[in-house]
Amino acid sequence: MISQRLLGWYSHNKRILPWRETKNPYKIWISEIMLQQTQVATVIPYYERWMKSFPNIEALAKADYDYVLKHWEGLGYYSRCKNIHATAKSLNGKLPETFNELIKLPGIGEYTAKTILAIAYNKKEVGVDTNLERVGFRLLGLKKKSKFNNNRVKKFLENIQDKSKPGDFNQALMDLGSSLCQAKAVECIPCPIVDDCKASTNDNPLEYPEMKKSKPIPTLNIAVCIIFHNDKLLVMQRPKHKMLGGLWEFPGGKIEKGESKQAAVIREIFEETCLIINNPKYLGEVRHQYSHFKVKISLFQHHKKDISSLKIKENYLWTSIEGLNSLALPKANHKMLDFLKKLD
Ligand code: ADE
Repeated sequence: MISQRLLGWYSHNKRILPWRETKNPYKIWISEIMLQQTQVATVIPYYERWMKSFPNIEALAKADYDYVLKHWEGLGYYSRCKNIHATAKSLNGKLPETFNELIKLPGIGEYTAKTILAIAYNKKEVGVDTNLERVGFRLLGLKKKSKFNNNRVKKFLENIQDKSKPGDFNQALMDLGSSLCQAKAVECIPCPIVDDCKASTNDNPLEYPEMKKSKPIPTLNIAVCIIFHNDKLLVMQRPKHKMLGGLWEFPGGKIEKGESKQAAVIREIFEETCLIINNPKYLGEVRHQYSHFKVKISLFQHHKKDISSLKIKENYLWTSIEGLNSLALPKANHKMLDFLKKLD
């Protein structure tokens, strides 16, 4: 049987991962949220730090959000962190055990709910992420991505699932999809289920499923200023409900069409802080890429003696550079700091 061959392969080839040493639903939940859109190697140190600080739902629910967010710093998609913390507070110490309850929790969609049920609760569910979907399309020899074909793949994987080991079945397909059966690289000879794979038998498996052309990513031009006052620098906290919510950043904003970076930074700083910065020093350019856009940041620095006009709507802080270590900053702001440190 196909699932037997797959599980046999998995028992010898599975990746040793910290969240595979447990069936604790809380730990599986956190690992699955961290693994959304994020590579396994990136997640491992975050998962380990998180479990040291928040070993269970109660510990997480009790913790201050700024401290929780610091544990997520650099992992991206910060709404995941906000959702986890809000959910932990609402749970009374226990993650639900049914699909209908799990799917209602913020940040948990069909894939995550089913994967948690399979791994932590041994329920006969298949969580179909991009890896499982790709393997399914290849096994069935389907090229065209459509709702109809996606459903065929789901039903097919549910049919062939080993009902006694749903967690291993899910994770075996994940491991196959991230090793021998990747989107742009395949190794069919050692594949345990190559004889069941229509794409491999008939054709070139890399052509299954058809890939969508990726859209070009727009670039946003930003101007930012690190403002110093008596050896402290100004950081502002982003509103909780916005992108990068709760993280601390240097003031600045978008460069308008036709505006120079210098004019933009002076205008943005005045709009955000009511401080007038004359002649800020241009330090250089920092770039960063998010999922759907890139930012090109023109970085300035300014020493401000008189801050009596300062007025800011958001939370803000004057902090030493060392003090920044206890705040959660977006990656782009870390890049700016590295830039600043290199100049010293
Ligand atoms: N990606 C999502 N969930 C995973 C898991 N449990 N193991 C490895 N990679 C994953």
